[in-house]
Amino acid sequence: MLTNLAQQPADALLALIKLHNNDPRADKIDLGVGVYKTGQGDTPVFGAIKAAEKKLAETQDSKAYLGPEGDMAFVEALMPYVFGKEDPTKGGRIEGMQTPGGTGSLRLALALVKKAGIKRAWMGVPSWPNHAQICADLGLELKTFNHATPEGTADMDALRAAIAEADEGDAFLLHGCCHNPTGIDYSNADWDEIAGLLAARKLLPVLDLAYQGLGRGMEEDAYGVRRVLAAVPEAIVAYSCDKNFGLYRDRTGALYMMTATPEQLPPVISNAYALARANWSQPPDHGAAAVRMVLEDKALTAQWLDELDTMRERMRQVRARLAAAGKVGGGDLTPVGGQNGLFSIIPFTPEQVQAMRADHGIYFAGSGRINVAGLTLGNIDPFIAAVAKGTG
Ligand code: LMR
Repeated sequence: MLTNLAQQPADALLALIKLHNNDPRADKIDLGVGVYKTGQGDTPVFGAIKAAEKKLAETQDSKAYLGPEGDMAFVEALMPYVFGKEDPTKGGRIEGMQTPGGTGSLRLALALVKKAGIKRAWMGVPSWPNHAQICADLGLELKTFNHATPEGTADMDALRAAIAEADEGDAFLLHGCCHNPTGIDYSNADWDEIAGLLAARKLLPVLDLAYQGLGRGMEEDAYGVRRVLAAVPEAIVAYSCDKNFGLYRDRTGALYMMTATPEQLPPVISNAYALARANWSQPPDHGAAAVRMVLEDKALTAQWLDELDTMRERMRQVRARLAAAGKVGGGDLTPVGGQNGLFSIIPFTPEQVQAMRADHGIYFAGSGRINVAGLTLGNIDPFIAAVAKGTG
């Protein structure tokens, strides 16, 4: 029976980890999967998380089950950062639950959408490949529109047209900040307009916030989510702590649901719990417990925010250096300077992507997406030279 299963290709993004590891060249460059790296090319555990983990090891007295919602103190401690300090539950209209990473949260969000009877989701492309994979796996019809213009700005015309074409009650998936893979975010003015359009057309926003704090700042990066939630009666927010707390493999995330009235919330939550139970039963505890301990401690919170500032500042410097290189080979690195988060796209052809791997040991996604955090003082000039050669 199992031989009925056809061979599947390895996930293209995750496969880059091994491809890079297996390359023996000392000067290879890893711009693949989305993890932050220091100027030395390391992905260390945050100091604030290390301290919280120590405290956790000393004080945790049980690992008994918590239930499908996971660590609710973690879920609630994040809410002021996501929804604002003033009334983060919006009068009891928002509640959340812990999920295994951002992917677990998205999976649950879209499964909930499906269970609510919604048949169609809309999304700008290119997008993170797993968005489409999850929709396909759930049997949700996915309609796409252009996320970005060739000039490297958000394609608001395409978004307006998609919203106009969508049927009332369709789900509309948007990246809250640090768009993956383009780094091209909506401006605050764009979000003001998007919020009104989603509300007017009665669409269900599904907002993916996986990089809060890696773009312009914790508050700044929440603008879109807060603006949309202020305008619509119902929404879902998928949140990841994997990047902004550096917890990648500990799979730390949360799902938040907002309904028009507090009374409408419990049935929604109960469905999310039932779906979680059937998927993973209960989320892994460790990462969420560490985040909670950071957020419950003023000094650790300050340390975490400081570490996040350092990461963001370093990525800004890399972006500025790339932008200063301007026109390179057949491409132009100038727009990279104004983009946000870990990623930007350099318009390589698939053949050029392969040649960059083979000829230079430079690994990035087949879409031409680079992780700017993989660039350091030591490798940025060779990278720019290789782009000149590789696209020329
Ligand atoms: C990425 O886009 O590289 C990250 O979000 C990692 C992942 O799970 O794909």
